[in-house]
Amino acid sequence: MRRYLILMSAMAFVAGTLAPTTAMSAAQYSKGDGNVNNGKTIFEQGKGDVPACNSCHGMDGDGDDNLGTPRLTGQGFTFLLKQLEDFATDKRMDETMFVMNANAKGMSPQDRRDVATYLSQKRNSFAGSDLKELTTNGVATGKTNFGKSLVEIGSPELSACKSCHGHAGRGAPPIYPVILNQRYTYLVSQLKKFRDGSRANDPMGQMRAIARKMTDDDIHNAAAYLTTAKNSTPGNIHTPYTFH
Ligand code: HEC
Ligand code: HEC
Repeated sequence: MRRYLILMSAMAFVAGTLAPTTAMSAAQYSKGDGNVNNGKTIFEQGKGDVPACNSCHGMDGDGDDNLGTPRLTGQGFTFLLKQLEDFATDKRMDETMFVMNANAKGMSPQDRRDVATYLSQKRNSFAGSDLKELTTNGVATGKTNFGKSLVEIGSPELSACKSCHGHAGRGAPPIYPVILNQRYTYLVSQLKKFRDGSRANDPMGQMRAIARKMTDDDIHNAAAYLTTAKNSTPGNIHTPYTFH
């Protein structure tokens, strides 16, 4: 009996340390069950008082560093829908342009489902922000090699981003979003918002706990690596999610 208990606790420990990256399978990556055509119409033309999403999130939905908007394509359905619901119920406040709360409220629950379905299925070959161009424009950019070690290995104070967000930040659905090839400006702004608590819609405060330990340099370095990293995993033991 005692040996059995020890075995059980060892198994629980292993399961705990491996979750969620290895416990998730591609089958759990929901692509959404909404109406893709309605989602596309809302994205391209808006609806009622809600402006077309592509006017801020880019024609192809790959975000805009000048506006501070995120890339939306290639993101998991469950995560996108959660963000729209959080904006609609003021659990998350848009303090960048002060528009997303009104936009989410202006859509019906079914519209939010439809547009999240469309975006999670829309293919897009966007490969991240142009760090050289941002630096030329006076934006403080980080060092990709330092960022890579934070994302993949972590530091004594900081859990590796990979432990939740997967290799190179490619996402571990349904909870952990894709942060790979996300816009640099958006990654930086969200990490700072989690750090100062103005974004507080993360389950169990997981991201706030991480971001509070990050210096400005850590944030710039992690964002620089994540925006430019590749979704390839030499030697990874499980199938990569379809990202684009
Ligand atoms: C006027 C500009 C504007 C328009 C129009 C707009 N957005 Fe946004 N959106 C933003 C900004 C700015 C943010 C970032 C908010 C923040 O910093 O917290 C954002 C964030 C989001 C996010 C969060 C993504 C993430 O990774 O967490 C989603 C989802 C989203 N928008 C969907 C939409 C949809 C769907 C539409 C169309 C119905 C739309 N947006 C229209 C400006 C806009
Ligand atoms: C303990 C798990 C955990 C770790 C470790 C972690 N994150 Fe997160 N992160 C989350 C969760 C959960 C969310 C989703 C919050 C929500 O539902 O809005 C998130 C969201 C984010 C977002 C916002 C994405 C978006 O589209 O809005 C960014 C950026 C981010 N994390 C960056 C990082 C970076 C960089 C690291 C490493 C320094 C990291 N995370 C480590 C759990 C984690």
